[in-house]
Amino acid sequence: MAAAPPEPTAAPLHVAIVMDGNGRWAKRRGLPRTLGHRAGVEALKRTVAAAPALGIKWLTVFGFSTENWSRPAAEVAELMALPKRYFDSDLTRLEREGVRVRCWGRREGLSPELVKMLDEAEARTAHNDTFFLQIAFNYGGQADIVDAARAFAAEVAAGRARPEDLDEAMFARHLSSRDAPPTDLIIRPSGEQRLSNFLLWEAAYAEFVFQDVLWPDFSVDHLKAALEEFSRRDRRYGGTPADGVLAAG
Ligand code: IPE
Ligand code: MG
Repeated sequence: MAAAPPEPTAAPLHVAIVMDGNGRWAKRRGLPRTLGHRAGVEALKRTVAAAPALGIKWLTVFGFSTENWSRPAAEVAELMALPKRYFDSDLTRLEREGVRVRCWGRREGLSPELVKMLDEAEARTAHNDTFFLQIAFNYGGQADIVDAARAFAAEVAAGRARPEDLDEAMFARHLSSRDAPPTDLIIRPSGEQRLSNFLLWEAAYAEFVFQDVLWPDFSVDHLKAALEEFSRRDRRYGGTPADGVLAAG
């Protein structure tokens, strides 16, 4: 008897994007990198607007990494100004449309005004639950894991937990992603094929789609193409594939 065709993989619930290629986009146009970053904010707006209708419920984007501090001061200043640019134009609409915004990453090192803005975006949308937008800002996957380890160590030191209580599930409850479902799909535009310290823990069984488009040019069609590719993946979580042939992935 012929094997049944594999079920298409369901639309991903939780999509993450490394928003990369702003600098190259600007350079190709003979523009300063700052304008590339601003154009990147427009791509984010398009993506957030299109995601819910495509079956995405959680969207996590990499806005500023713990390694981006090594960029020239003027560029860092522009990147630090992007949350204001985004929230000034969009927070009211996000709030109204039921989007819950969360800002992952370390608050240390950010200006008090920026911290206030990130906290306010979270507070103003805390009651929403139709769509979940995580902005990873001053975020690093390794830093997030270190912070989780510190938090657990503090519980042990306070006598509230024992080292042997720690397992994967408990550890995950200390990460920024504690309230999020598993990351299903990680999209990286710009032609680079690496994780760059994004979602290290969460990437365990995520599917990766790399696309040859610079982030400011990322369109709804690119998002649809990534979802289409995702739908053809056979996700096995270390188990047996549909045709019964054992494989490691
Ligand atoms: C992404 O674009 C923005 C951030 C990393 C904050 P880049 O600035 O990395 O753009 P490229 O990689 O230089 O083109
Ligand atoms: Mg880059």
